Amino acid sequence: MFASRTDWHLEPNRFAVALEEHRRRGKPLFELTNSNPTTCGFRYPEDQLFATLSDRRALRYEPESLGLRQAREAIADYYRGRPGFFGTKTPVGSGRIVITSGTSEAYNYIFRLLCEVGDEVLVPAPSYPLFEYLAGLADVRPAPYPLLYNQGWQVDFAGLSAALTARSKAVVVVHPNNPTGSFIKREEAQRLAEICARRDLAIIADEVFLDYADGPELPSSFAFESPSLTVTLSGVSKISLLPQMKLGWIVVSGPSVLVDTAMQRLEVIGDTYLSPSTPGQLALAEMLVLREDLQRQMRQRLCANLVFLDTLLQKGGSVDRLKREGGWYAVLRVPTTGPDEDLAIDILESSGVLVHPGHFFDFPRDGFLVLSLIAREAEFQEGARRLLRFFYGT
Ligand SMILES: Cc1ncc(COP(=O)(O)O)c(C=O)c1O
Repeated sequence: MFASRTDWHLEPNRFAVALEEHRRRGKPLFELTNSNPTTCGFRYPEDQLFATLSDRRALRYEPESLGLRQAREAIADYYRGRPGFFGTKTPVGSGRIVITSGTSEAYNYIFRLLCEVGDEVLVPAPSYPLFEYLAGLADVRPAPYPLLYNQGWQVDFAGLSAALTARSKAVVVVHPNNPTGSFIKREEAQRLAEICARRDLAIIADEVFLDYADGPELPSSFAFESPSLTVTLSGVSKISLLPQMKLGWIVVSGPSVLVDTAMQRLEVIGDTYLSPSTPGQLALAEMLVLREDLQRQMRQRLCANLVFLDTLLQKGGSVDRLKREGGWYAVLRVPTTGPDEDLAIDILESSGVLVHPGHFFDFPRDGFLVLSLIAREAEFQEGARRLLRFFYGT
């Protein structure tokens, strides 16, 4: 009766079972895996948010296939003044924007726009674990291409070329990547765009963490002009710390003939679902205004937790933190004699600290743990102390 695309292995893995058991016993738990900003003690401007969500215009249903114009204009404004990889002569205009119900839905629109059943989309490894499901549900095969670590992360172009086949339709870049925190560099963007333009592939640039760079420089965006068809995805889930609002978007750029065709087709896809709610879209401009203060709080949190972690690590030992340039995560390289999953379970059971095993993000080998840096400082500090005590025993 059921489609093979939904024939998932649904039994909880050993890590999930161990966590369930830990919780059932009511043992203390230090969650260094939490990516949900709404549970991490940030001060949200509640009155402003509620006021903007109760706009009376929402009582009337006047849908627009690409999303409400005023919301698209607010998104276009978000890109104003930013650097672009290939120049910014053409500003991001509301006519090249499609609003979706979150970035995950944006991926679905794009896979549906570009791929026949069984086509392939190249995805970075290590990266965001949801690609397998997002692609699978759209009948697309995710084909991993490697990122290499050598004093920092970079795209392995030999690996990327080897992963390309006649079925490849697009290359996904996560900029900055989750969980490595690495941005795509200008030369990498250039090389990637040349490959994609030559082979009629699209670039799918996931920029949900773009605003969280460790350094002072504004990172370049893919949303401006580009030599190849490029779709840039983002949303308020990370930009304004509001994942529950389910508002994301797609910006289409590249050669004008391709952009026009993509927009015409995306308009029909959008019109078929009309999924983003009217109250949310009416509030989107205000959510983007509110991001300033929320991002300031988040940057302080990321910086404080990272500094604390580095201070602990400076005491010396066999654990080190991989270089990152932004995002919400830190990757630790740790001594191990077995699978990362066993290690993460061992850490949970003996220290009460929850960290993600690297294999969850498709790291090429064992010996990596991923920590979210957004937890409340007190919880992060106790978790990090216990974690290092686990390795060093003091
Ligand atoms: C790289 C990346 N893209 C997309 C998303 C999902 O965004 P949304 O909540 O808008 O669907 C996440 C969420 O963690 C993410 O890490």
